[in-house]
Amino acid sequence: MASLKRQLRGQRTARPTAFPLAASLVALALGFGVATAHADDDALPKLPNKTPLKVGFAQTESNNPWRLAETKSMKDTAAKCGWQLVVTDANGSNSKQVSDIQNMIAQHVDLLVFPPREEKPLSPIVLQAKKAGIPVILVDRDVDHSVAKPGQDYITFIGSDFINQGQRAADWLVKTTNGKAKIIELEGTTGASAANDRKKGFDDVIAKHPDMQIIASQSGDFARDTGRKVMETLLQAHPDVTAVYAHNDEMALGAIAAIKAAGKQPGKDIQVVTIDGTKGGMDAIAAGELGASVQSSPFFGPLACDVAQKYAKGEKIPTWVKVSDRFYDKSNVQQNMQYGY
Ligand code: AHR
Repeated sequence: MASLKRQLRGQRTARPTAFPLAASLVALALGFGVATAHADDDALPKLPNKTPLKVGFAQTESNNPWRLAETKSMKDTAAKCGWQLVVTDANGSNSKQVSDIQNMIAQHVDLLVFPPREEKPLSPIVLQAKKAGIPVILVDRDVDHSVAKPGQDYITFIGSDFINQGQRAADWLVKTTNGKAKIIELEGTTGASAANDRKKGFDDVIAKHPDMQIIASQSGDFARDTGRKVMETLLQAHPDVTAVYAHNDEMALGAIAAIKAAGKQPGKDIQVVTIDGTKGGMDAIAAGELGASVQSSPFFGPLACDVAQKYAKGEKIPTWVKVSDRFYDKSNVQQNMQYGY
């Protein structure tokens, strides 16, 4: 137990939370009644070593290439891994994702795999799955560790280091602008671990450079059209902007459209840096409109299969299966096009 706590401290930045009470209220409202009974020493549910395995994959939304690639990776893996896959789409709603998972629990799936849309609203359902005896693997985004802990309440978190992604984006911007910029930040979905951590990683680096200033920071919900609209408004309020940091490619592409509509040139008048490494983002780098994109791999299917098989055999699983990501700018984008999605 003590060593698990040490591992967790080393692996993830603790996020401030006033949460246990709020989590309990959410859980009670959802009819769980179990969220407060934090089963500290209860063993994780076992995974039967059988084929086919009924696996539930609860997607958050399907409105961008990243989400589509993630779902495709799960579907492509299912046949190879001997999974009978049940897929749902929460259409961008936390409560729908929770009820999708509740339905899967009611169907007695053998394993649950999902990206929690937001950290806090999706934490209690992890405890509910555990109570129902269904093991959980979180992919892409994580939950609030003060409520549900990897290695204790769910098998593991498989995903990128979002803080590091934000740092890498900031390092590129510092270098490209010689440490002088007025930055607009387009944040991802409020409350999502990807948005929280990408913001922290970027903002902490920028804070060390006195001539770099984040002049506005607003959510574009990881969506292209919302990113474009937010950027249009922010461009009017801040005509002196010289750089944009978007938490994903889709919002960066929306921002590029807004910059062009305002008669400015992305890549010259305003530098744009982002995260994801989608095909659309890579094409924009090749066109000189996007400066750089830190890859965020959506290909979790094979990793989840590997973890599940090892777990079913009783092997020890690390609490964080860390995904390593590439980095694309004009120096290497052409030779990496095959990794775009
Ligand atoms: O959680 C990963 C993020 O979610 C991706 O960067 C984004 O494109 C997606 O919607």
